Amino acid sequence: MESATAATGYDTGVARAGLPPGPRTPATLNTARFLRRPLQTLLGWHRRYGDVFTIRMLAFGTGVYVADPGEIRRLFTGDQSDLHAGEANAPLAPILGRNSVLVLDGPEHLRQRRLLLPPFQGSAVESFRTVIREVAEAEVEGWRCGDELVLRERMRALTFEVICRAVFGVTERERVERLRTALLRVIDLSALFFLPAPLRRDLGRLSLGGVLARRLRAADALIYEEIARRRREADLDQRTDVLSLLLRARDEDGKPMSDAELRDELMTMLAAGHETTATGLAFAFDLLLRHPRALARLRAELDAESDDYLDAVVTETLRLRPVIDAAERTLKAPRAIAGWELPAGIRVYPGIALVHRREDLYPQAAEFRPERFLDGGAESYSWLPFGGGIRRCIGAALARAEMAEVIRTVVSRAELSPARRDPDPVVLRGITLAPRHGVPVTVDAVRQR
Ligand code: HEM
Repeated sequence: MESATAATGYDTGVARAGLPPGPRTPATLNTARFLRRPLQTLLGWHRRYGDVFTIRMLAFGTGVYVADPGEIRRLFTGDQSDLHAGEANAPLAPILGRNSVLVLDGPEHLRQRRLLLPPFQGSAVESFRTVIREVAEAEVEGWRCGDELVLRERMRALTFEVICRAVFGVTERERVERLRTALLRVIDLSALFFLPAPLRRDLGRLSLGGVLARRLRAADALIYEEIARRRREADLDQRTDVLSLLLRARDEDGKPMSDAELRDELMTMLAAGHETTATGLAFAFDLLLRHPRALARLRAELDAESDDYLDAVVTETLRLRPVIDAAERTLKAPRAIAGWELPAGIRVYPGIALVHRREDLYPQAAEFRPERFLDGGAESYSWLPFGGGIRRCIGAALARAEMAEVIRTVVSRAELSPARRDPDPVVLRGITLAPRHGVPVTVDAVRQR
């Protein structure tokens, strides 16, 4: 068997006590730097302190970033019982619900995850491609020559619609609109849930807590209405949307999901799945529009009915512009990582964005070169925009399918040009990395069908 030292480069037998080096600057300064220029700041710390470094941040406390793929593999594949991911999301529990796969840890997390996974695997996701194409076609249909679009906004509308149809199974326009209004009014306030509890208290109609509570009640009423309708549908057994599949799912003891569990997971998929994918798409277009050779090759290969380059564009976009900069695990017991015996309570951040910029894995890593993924797929622990292990993103295949189908539709039917001279800077929006201006473009031509 390969020894731990050979596999990871660190001698795990003689782990040093204490915390790895990192900037000595106060948490306020570290946080301000990270908020202003997240990607450059992280990359700067990586250059200076190496593959494992400690950062003190406001709100998040002390955390250790890991940028070594071997160490990340050990973390994601070793015993997970003392690694928690749900507790960092606890502030979102009032919105997502206490059954949400995102906020649970341990056996409860695994139960929800096992129920949720089947509708998001292989053939199930393939069946969503038609829905995605229809939604993308309808979006481009509405574009006119000379229009100025902010792509992240357009993509957000589109990915919301995909979730409504593929996940909730709702297609009627009026019901989609009702859900859109009610759910987005909640999701758009979710960042406020990270505020200290007293500020979130419900102190009446006009207080922040009061507004949140009212919006949540309205959104919940609609979700429970959809669940009840679906239970009554005569064709429930034939339907392929995620909600219908979840209604038919049974856990190991043969138990179905309760309405409260269904509500919590629907809200979770919406919260985790629509803005992330929309941001990934906006980044993809920003990169493609600024790399005309890559765009031309993409069009040529799609004309020749090959999807290889399209898939490589999606993979390369998520490498160069990961939407989530790092996964997060809280240590519930001391653990040796990258040669350090880290104490319980520390948050460990497998540094997605840092691994993706390693020159030893990706020569000229700062450049957009989809070709690098043509000779073979990405390696699991060198390419991790969807995290890994037992917390790996449940919607990864759906997100990839969405990105591929939307890019296909847009580049086949529309000519766009960037409205700004320079690439959109990467900033922090909530917990995601996003383009500061949302990728504004002008529509130069639209091919009607
Ligand atoms: C480009 C789009 C997306 C990106 C970049 C993304 C990224 C991620 C990441 C980094 C995690 C954490 C993984 C970890 O801790 O190891 C995650 C978790 C998750 N994602 Fe996604 N995601 C995307 C789209 C989606 C979609 C479309 C859905 C569902 C419709 C979804 C549902 C989830 C859920 C439910 C989890 C929690 C899994 C668990 O804790 O077991 N995501 N995602």
